[in-house]
Amino acid sequence: MTTYNLALIGFGGVNRALAELIRDEPQRFLTLGFELRVVAITDLAFGSLVQGDGVDLDAVLAMPRGSSFDGLPGGSPDPRNEEVIRNSPADIVVEATFTSPIDGEPAVSHVKWAIESGKHVVTTNKGPVALSGPELSRLAASNGVRFEYEGAVMSGTPVIRLAHKMLGGLELRAVQGILNGTSNYVLGRMEAGLRLDEAIAEAQELGYAEADPTADIGGSDVRLKVAILANELLGAGIHPRDVETTGIQDITSDDVAKALASGLRWKLIGEARREADGRVVATVQPIALPSDHPLAGISGATNAASFTTDLLGAVTVSGPGAGRVETAYALISDIMAVNEFAKGAVRA
Ligand code: HSE
Repeated sequence: MTTYNLALIGFGGVNRALAELIRDEPQRFLTLGFELRVVAITDLAFGSLVQGDGVDLDAVLAMPRGSSFDGLPGGSPDPRNEEVIRNSPADIVVEATFTSPIDGEPAVSHVKWAIESGKHVVTTNKGPVALSGPELSRLAASNGVRFEYEGAVMSGTPVIRLAHKMLGGLELRAVQGILNGTSNYVLGRMEAGLRLDEAIAEAQELGYAEADPTADIGGSDVRLKVAILANELLGAGIHPRDVETTGIQDITSDDVAKALASGLRWKLIGEARREADGRVVATVQPIALPSDHPLAGISGATNAASFTTDLLGAVTVSGPGAGRVETAYALISDIMAVNEFAKGAVRA
């Protein structure tokens, strides 16, 4: 049985959910053919911890916010990210720190340090993938390791790997998606009669919205995801600033009611499409969809992506786009991809 040593970079909701799954459900991993052992954790609040024989997950998961790894064997009040990523005995670095939509840092550096020191990287962080994804993938390939990021779009619901693996052999012409749960939830609640601000407040209470919901409502969260899909699935080579972006902030209750009366539903749609001349055009905008559109029936905080293909026409997948456990599952699916690579089943 192979054991993979993990370094968890960031010990917030997602990496804690992964640690809980590793502690509570070892059988899930045994059926996948490997065991996972956490040998290092870094976090802005807790500091860092390196224990090559395996961190006691019960103990660290019980530590309240505001406490520190300082005083534990191998512990420090300082995150020491570069030292831990480069020198800990990890095989796989699990990057789940905050997303910077400006330059992707510090996550871009975390990924580079890991790859340069011969470690695989799995991440749920949109920033480094949207802003430096192709460069980081090339760096990984030249260092003989994997850089996997299924959770950057639609959390654990398969999109990137689904398109690569299951839609192989088809020509992919476009992808359209509802890629932000908060804005979709808000539009649905406006259909039920709430004002925009009331619906946003509800989404915040339910924990769907980012701490600053401007990224959800103004479309910049979807902009990063569309850039990832355009580059990954259509080879666009674009930057998020190339994605023309309009959010739902100007959609009024009146707009929503009028659309409903005509059988239409407003949705915030992220799209990347290959034009006849080969260019890829990427946009984020609210669109009033007719009821027979594959994305019209997607309600609440659910996400969906609809692929336009040559032989199958539209192929649509829907599922959660956020959540601790749902996003931790994306990391597991990435680790499965690392395992396939390590077993020689796929090449870099
Ligand atoms: N705030 C985001 C959403 C979380 O509502 O979809 C996932 O990126």
